[in-house]
Amino acid sequence: MDHFDIQPLARFVTGERASIRRPKEIASFSYDDAHGFHLDERSLRYYYPPTIGADLSKGAATSGALLPHHFLPAVWRHLKPSSFWRHAPGLCPPGFDSFQQLDDTADDHLDSLLKTIIDLESRTGKKCQADLVTWRGMMTKIMATPFDLFNGFEMNATRFQDTIFIEENHAHKLESRHAQHHQVSRAGTASQDLMSYWGYKFETLALIPATWAETSRDYIESREDLVVNNHAQYCSLVRTGIGKSRLVLGGEVDALWDAKPSRADDPINWVELKTAATPLSDRDVLKYERKLLKFWIQSFLLGVPRIIVGFRSKNGILQSLEELETSEIPRLVKQRGKGTWDGNTCIDFTASFLDCVQWYADGIEGLKSTIVGEGVWRIRKREKATVIEVLRIEASGHANILS
Ligand code: A3P
Ligand code: MG
Ligand code: MG
Repeated sequence: MDHFDIQPLARFVTGERASIRRPKEIASFSYDDAHGFHLDERSLRYYYPPTIGADLSKGAATSGALLPHHFLPAVWRHLKPSSFWRHAPGLCPPGFDSFQQLDDTADDHLDSLLKTIIDLESRTGKKCQADLVTWRGMMTKIMATPFDLFNGFEMNATRFQDTIFIEENHAHKLESRHAQHHQVSRAGTASQDLMSYWGYKFETLALIPATWAETSRDYIESREDLVVNNHAQYCSLVRTGIGKSRLVLGGEVDALWDAKPSRADDPINWVELKTAATPLSDRDVLKYERKLLKFWIQSFLLGVPRIIVGFRSKNGILQSLEELETSEIPRLVKQRGKGTWDGNTCIDFTASFLDCVQWYADGIEGLKSTIVGEGVWRIRKREKATVIEVLRIEASGHANILS
C-alpha cells in the first residue's frame, strides 16, 4: 500500500471485532534525575493524593503569567508570558526558573527501548518475538486517527528480520513544536509552556518515591516545595496484541497505586496522572471528552487500569480529583457523554492498518505486508488529511532507527 484511507469509518465498525491481548510487562528501565539510563526500577513512583487548592504554577518560570493583558506595557503585550518575565527580571516571582526541564532536542531514536530488549534477550537467552516494536506514543497517534483527523504525524519505519521498528520522525516533531510555540496565547489564558509545567507540577504533588509505608509524613507534606524535575521516568516494556499483530511497546508509566504484585503474571496497578481544565460549559465538556480519547488509548496500550485526573481552574489552581477506570472510559463517553469517539473503532482501525483483516476487502494491504525487504519507510499523516501515507524513502539500510 502507499496510502491507507481512514474513512469511511464504517469499514471498521461492521464485521467482527479485532481481538486484543492484555498488555503484560516484560521488562522496564529508568531514567534518573539527570536523565541517565538504567536497567532497573529506580524511578518507579507511587501515588499519594495531592492537596486540593494547590497552585500548579508555583515554581514555574512563568509564574504570574496570568497577569491581565491590559497590565502589560504595550511593548510586552505581544510576548508570551514567559518572555514577559525574561524581559522584566526585576519583577520575577519567587521560584523563577526553578523547573528542571528535560532538553529533548536530540534524537534518541529507539535507543533505550532497544537496549532494554537486548538485555532481556541476553537474560532469557530467547529472541523477543514481535511483529512491531515502537514507543507507545507512536501507537497512540495511529490508534487515535479515526477520531483525530486534525492532527498530523510523521514516523520512520524499517524491518529487521521479522520485526518492523517504528520511530518518530524527530525533525517533524521539533517543527510542530516550534509552530506551536509561536502561536501567541490569548490574553488571560496560560501559555503552552505553563500548561505543560502544570502537568509536571501535578505529578510532583501527587507522587512519592516509595510506598506509603516507606514514606515519611514530612516528605508527603513538603511536596509543594519540591523543585519540579521531569528528567526521571520509569518506562515499561509490554507485550501486547491487536488483531493479528503482536506488539512490543515501550512507554512511561507515572506511578503505582500501591505496589507491584508478588506474582509476575498478575496485572500491575499502574496509575496515569493527567491534568485538565474543570469543564464549565458544554464546549468544555466536549473538549474534555476529546482529551479522554488520548487518555484512554495511552493507558489502554500499556495496560494502565486507572487514571487520576487533576481538574484545575483556568489559572492553574488544583480544584478536584477524579479517578477513572481506563476500561470504563469508552462506555462513559458513549452513554453519558456526547459520543464523539468509539473505542472499538480505534481498535479495529489499528488492527486493519497493521495487518489487513478479513472484512477489509478492497485489496489494500496493511503495514505488515508493506514494510518488507530492505530500506526505510515514512508513515505520514498530514494535518486534516483523511489518509495515512506509507512511502519508501530509502531503498536500503535502516537509517538511524536501529542503533
Ligand atoms: P498532562 O497530561 O497533565 O497535561 P503524561 O501525561 O504523558 O504522563 O505527561 C506528563 C506531562 O507532560 C503532561 O501532563 C504535560 O504537562 C507534559 N506533556 C506531555 N506531552 C506533552 C506535549 N506533547 N506537549 C507539552 N507538554 C506535554
Ligand atoms: Mg507520564
Ligand atoms: Mg501523566
